[in-house]
Amino acid sequence: MTWADFAAGEVKYWWIITQLWPTDMQEFTPSLSVRQPVDRAWSQKKYLFHCCFKFTLLLCVGLFVLCCALSSGSETWWERFAIREHYNKIFHQTNSVYNPPPYRVHPKHSVKPSETTEATEPPTALPTVAPTGTQYHEAYPRNYHFIMNNIEVCKNNTPFLVLMVPVAPNNVAARDAIRQTWGKESLVQGKVVYTLFMLGLPRGADVEQQQEKLKQENLQHRDLIQSDFVDSYLNLTIKTMVIMDWLATHCLTAAYAMKIDSDMFLNIDNLVIMLQKPGIPKANYLTGMLMWNRPVVRSKNSKWYVSEELYPDPQYPTYTLGMGYVFSNDLPEKFVMASKSIKPFNIEDAYIGMCMRKLGLQVTSPPDPSQFKAYNRVYNRCEYSKIITYILGTSEELVKYWTDLKKPGPPC
Ligand SMILES: *[C@@H]1O[C@H](CO)[C@@H](O)[C@H](O)[C@H]1NC(C)=O
Repeated sequence: MTWADFAAGEVKYWWIITQLWPTDMQEFTPSLSVRQPVDRAWSQKKYLFHCCFKFTLLLCVGLFVLCCALSSGSETWWERFAIREHYNKIFHQTNSVYNPPPYRVHPKHSVKPSETTEATEPPTALPTVAPTGTQYHEAYPRNYHFIMNNIEVCKNNTPFLVLMVPVAPNNVAARDAIRQTWGKESLVQGKVVYTLFMLGLPRGADVEQQQEKLKQENLQHRDLIQSDFVDSYLNLTIKTMVIMDWLATHCLTAAYAMKIDSDMFLNIDNLVIMLQKPGIPKANYLTGMLMWNRPVVRSKNSKWYVSEELYPDPQYPTYTLGMGYVFSNDLPEKFVMASKSIKPFNIEDAYIGMCMRKLGLQVTSPPDPSQFKAYNRVYNRCEYSKIITYILGTSEELVKYWTDLKKPGPPC
């Protein structure tokens, strides 16, 4: 909670207080001069009674506000009071048709399903591979193979943090924007940080041409990792698990890793600072924007629809929103192992939540939950200097905001 938030709250509550008080004052003041002594005594009693009653009422309001302030998680307590949020919450809990998407809360994304869209295809289109000792194969990443790999990245270095960005093969614009902004520096706050892009196989008529372009792009930047699964929206869980497999097999030297979407604003300095805070675990650590008790979307025309057959429980376990989650680098191997026995479904972040549950591990709240933000409000330099994540609309936005944030002069 910032002082501005607090002050805003103060003003609001002061308003409520002034609405309660003056009625008494008005009632009481004229009575002194006009009414009889008996009336006056009665009036005074009434006034005292009113005072007591309203004092108690205010005390209750005060306590309630205090409770909210103390229990606030990722949002400031004032934000929690926002009527829209409030109704959203009620809405989401009572009416399954209006369920919030378990993955992606940004309104733009409900219209524009990322770069890869195949939402109409049934999830049964997931591949089935012959049993090899694993119970479920679709998301088990070792069924897929790397066809483009940059194994030397972690071989010759010991990165502190590796940023893994799943991106559609044809989305060069997003990759270039990231290369110019948060993916640019390999030394952040004195720590080695790498950014790598994860892709599947391109689709469409000109597959060979696309593949050739990717090869050229990789020759130039040496930052593409490609696996041989078909890149599509419904295969995002596979993509995530392939990221985990790559980290576990080719980048064990890294201390931390992050899965971050290509349309994100990332304040990389703040992330590296956060990971160096005392008390941040070095193992079994997964953090980001925590999602609690998220209901599974059962409405068939939703982008986040998951059938009861794929996922029978009505709710997901606690997970971190897929836009960007950070983890200690011992976890990828554990996730890969867990994925052998977890039935895959197309909600990649909730799937990681399932892996955590299977492993008997808890998702951890970040030191300052308000740093992981999904909604992109109006750009504000001061605010962007304090946060870690924000979902953006376009790659141009990323470059524009980043350039503005990095210009000289204090942001606040
Ligand atoms: C997911 O990837 C597999 C393996 O490449 C492929 O067979 C399947 O068609 C893909 N599914 C979708 C929905 O694209």
